[in-house]
This record gives sequence, C-alpha cells and structure tokens, in this order.
Amino acid sequence: QKLAVGIDIGGTNTVFGLVDKKGNILAEDFIFTKKYSIFSIFIDDLCDRILLLTQKLNCDLVGIGVGAPNANYLDQCIQDASNLPWKGRFELGKLLNQRIKVPVFVTNDANASAMAEMLFGGAVGMKNFMVLTLGTGLGSGIVVNGELVYGHTGFAGEMGHMIVRPEGRHCGCGRLGCLETYASATGIKRTVSKLFAKFSYPSELRNVPFSRMSAKRLAIEAHAGDKIAIEAFEFTGKILGIALANVIALNNPEAIFLSGGLSKAGSLLLEPTYYHMEQNLLSVFKGRTQLLLSSVEGNSGVIGAAALVWKVVE
Ligand code: BGC
Ligand code: NA
Ligand code: ZN
Repeated sequence: QKLAVGIDIGGTNTVFGLVDKKGNILAEDFIFTKKYSIFSIFIDDLCDRILLLTQKLNCDLVGIGVGAPNANYLDQCIQDASNLPWKGRFELGKLLNQRIKVPVFVTNDANASAMAEMLFGGAVGMKNFMVLTLGTGLGSGIVVNGELVYGHTGFAGEMGHMIVRPEGRHCGCGRLGCLETYASATGIKRTVSKLFAKFSYPSELRNVPFSRMSAKRLAIEAHAGDKIAIEAFEFTGKILGIALANVIALNNPEAIFLSGGLSKAGSLLLEPTYYHMEQNLLSVFKGRTQLLLSSVEGNSGVIGAAALVWKVVE
C-alpha cells in the first residue's frame, strides 16, 4: 500500500503518522521535542522512528510532508521559532531528504491544519476561510480564493505574533503583547496566574502548579463553576474575539475554524470569542462569519502535512 508520512512538529511533542490519500491515519507515533537541544539529533531520531513505523506496516513510502512552527513552504526551512528548542535557521526539508530518500515537503504547522480542513474537514467547498491552532503558540492558516496564502517570503499567517497589547506580556519571539501570549493553551494559563492575584475567590486551581495546569483542567473547573476558570475563558475570548474582528476586516472570510488543545474547551471558548468578535466588527461584516471548531478527525497537522505529498505524488 502506498502511504505518505505526515509530521507535526510541536513545542512539546512531534507527532508523525502514516496517512493514506483519503486522509486516514493508519499508524501514529511521537517523540518529545523538548528532549532535543541539538537539531540534527532530533532529525536523526525522528527519521529512525519513521522508518520503524513504515517497516511495521510494510508499506510503500511515497513522500514526507512536515508542518512546523515558523516553517516556510517557499524555502523548506524553519527560522527563529519562538516555541522550539533550536534558535536560528535550519534546512528541515533538505535534512529529512538526506536521511530518507523520498520527496519531502515543508510547510507551516497551521497551514497544514488549514489544508486538512479544506480537504477533509468543515472547510470543504469554502474558498475563503482561516484556521487558528491554539496550542503552545497560536498559528494561523489563511485561505483566500481557494489558495493558501504564503506571502512575499513565505511567512504569511503569523497571526500569533500580532501585537494586541502595547507593553503586554513577554513573548517567546522577544517582543511584548503578542496574541499568542493571551490566546493559546499557554496564554490562558498565564491569565489564570494573573487572576489569582486579582481576585480572592476560592479556587481549586490555586493548588495546581503552573506546569500541571492544562486547558483541559481549566475547562473541567469552569464547567464545575470555578470563577477564576470562567473569567479566564471570558478574558481569552475577549482578546481573541477582537483580534478576529481585525483579521475579518482584512480578508473577509466565510468561516474561522479553531483547532488545537485550547479549542477542545468548546463553547467555553467559542461563546465569549464569538460575542466579542461580533461586538467589534465593522457593520458590513456583522453576522457574516461563522466561528467553528475544526471537524478534522485525527491530528489535522499530520493529515494536512501528508496531503502536501498527495498533491504532487500519485
Ligand atoms: C509560530 C507559528 C506557528 C504557531 C503554532 C507560533 O509561535 O510563530 O509559526 O504556526 O506558533 O505552532
Ligand atoms: Na501560517
Ligand atoms: Zn511574539
């Protein structure tokens, strides 16, 4: 059987899978990204593990697609990633191809998710939409007139680093007030820490160390009525909703899809985000953009990255 590898490089884990042309993941595995301080060793281990997986399934490998933060489809490199352990510019595509001799395609992780949404998810048939991934950082994939937008040098869609608060929170990119420091799985945890100091409400969350806190835990506490957790979703939705109102003014999408860890909170996040988005939209845009959860089954980063291969390989 012919299969493509899809790789989703994330700040915490790097997930990879064997994917068929219809977007089904037949086998999946992962390695801990954070364990690797040296990029070339990361690539070596990743390739070893990919080859193990392909041997297990005894399949015919047609190519590798990889989505990563700060990756550039135009030059197949990753550069200055805020949430990865390696600083500088790395020839990701070339290095993978040196180890595994099949065609390799590199793209931004959120662009990969947008590709999966377009081919196998809720954006099938849509020509203008955006996908936001809310994980360690915030990524975006923008589709205009049916095409992913890459921009002049290939970095279009770095929405996580739009500055939404002057003199705001410190970002991994070295600047202050970026959207992802508020609206991401990490951002909402930072919000919770601030709220502890601001309010004196009793909260179970006060006993949870920052490293053990998760978007999932926050959602559970919010559903149980925890005021700090509820307020954290409200604040996150406000910042995100206003940012969405701004990008809607820019490219007038039919829908915006949320994916990634924080999106699993569902209506806890969707409701305040939609409310503040609508509140802040220019009148001509009001009521015209759907805010939806991603409906791709399985890891959309992995599926979308593999789809890059299937676009050109039979
Ligand atoms: C990076 C993006 C990436 C996003 C999600 C951001 O910090 O700049 O390239 O898509 O995180 O991983
Ligand atoms: Na992007
Ligand atoms: Zn930033």
